[in-house]
Amino acid sequence: MKILVTGGLGFIGSHTVVELQNEGFEVVVIDDLSNADEKVLQGIESITGKSPIFEKLDLREKSKVTDFFQRHQDIEGAIHFAASKAVGESVEKPLLYYENNLGTLVYLLQELSKKEAASFIFSSSCTVYGQADKMPITEDAPVKHAESPYGNTKQIGEEIIRDSCRVLPHLQAISLRYFNPIGAHPSGKIGELPIGIPQNLVPFITQTAAGIREQLSVFGGDYPTADGTCIRDYIHVVDLAKAHVVALQRLLERKNKENYEVFNVGTGQGSSVLEVIASFERVSGTKLNYKIVDRRAGDVVSAYADTTKANKVLGWKAESSLDQAMKSAWDWEQNIRN
Ligand code: WQD
Repeated sequence: MKILVTGGLGFIGSHTVVELQNEGFEVVVIDDLSNADEKVLQGIESITGKSPIFEKLDLREKSKVTDFFQRHQDIEGAIHFAASKAVGESVEKPLLYYENNLGTLVYLLQELSKKEAASFIFSSSCTVYGQADKMPITEDAPVKHAESPYGNTKQIGEEIIRDSCRVLPHLQAISLRYFNPIGAHPSGKIGELPIGIPQNLVPFITQTAAGIREQLSVFGGDYPTADGTCIRDYIHVVDLAKAHVVALQRLLERKNKENYEVFNVGTGQGSSVLEVIASFERVSGTKLNYKIVDRRAGDVVSAYADTTKANKVLGWKAESSLDQAMKSAWDWEQNIRN
């Protein structure tokens, strides 16, 4: 069965391609290489023994998208990762984000809706909740006004899919609202490859320990939490990748209850920034050089998932602990430095 993975050479995309190939799917990857390296194909092949079909393609070029689907009429489903995802950059360049994250989604859905049947998995984010009122966060927590154009593109993206599924009965879709993906494949062959200064916590931690960054700045130590630092739900990227395969199989086997479903994908466990640092120091056996500085604009105090729906309805549960995820991140950092 042939599955399209857009953004399939990116961090979460590449880990999902590995899990799809492990399940016997034939995978076609589209990536514009704006935030990924073609060498990732070798990493995927070294893990699964085969390389997915790869086409470098900018999904903003509508005619190219139509041409692609004419050449791959046997695609039965698509997992859509391709998007710009830097929260801060989206504030500076909103139109780039609306074009790249939403224009491409519309073109993909237009092509999929020409097929007899299509299963679609959308990469969404806990960002849609903003600062939720109640922890842990359930799927029916209200979607709040987005703090950034990036977060808004996830909210609008979900609405575009929901409205499409309502009128196109042969289009079945699931949005997966990720919490904080971290870590790397245990083989050490693929992982996160941030370009430039990492915006996210875990790659900044591992690069600091590797001597690439001078010191980690902890953004805020005066939040209303046990240790004063923000709380997030850090999920191992392999657990997250597996959730995509389970969600896709749910649609392919028509087990979905509605045409459009939403699931939180997290561990259900909240960890503070200082707890993540402590985990890193435990698994690496090194002391991390960090200092607590002012809060970062736009950060919510706390966000961690209620995973009941994913566990009970989707039949998926995260298996890795924070320490295992941090160890895999550190192993990966050391691999790429060697
Ligand atoms: C986590 C915590 C920071 C860096 C974002 C997006 C989300 C998704 C994941 C794309 C926060 C603190 C961070 C640093 C720090 N992205 N931190 N020093 O902001 O929860 O989520 O990335 O899909 O949509 O919103 O992740 O890793 O940036 O921050 O103290 O150098 O670490 O303040 O509390 P975030 P993050």
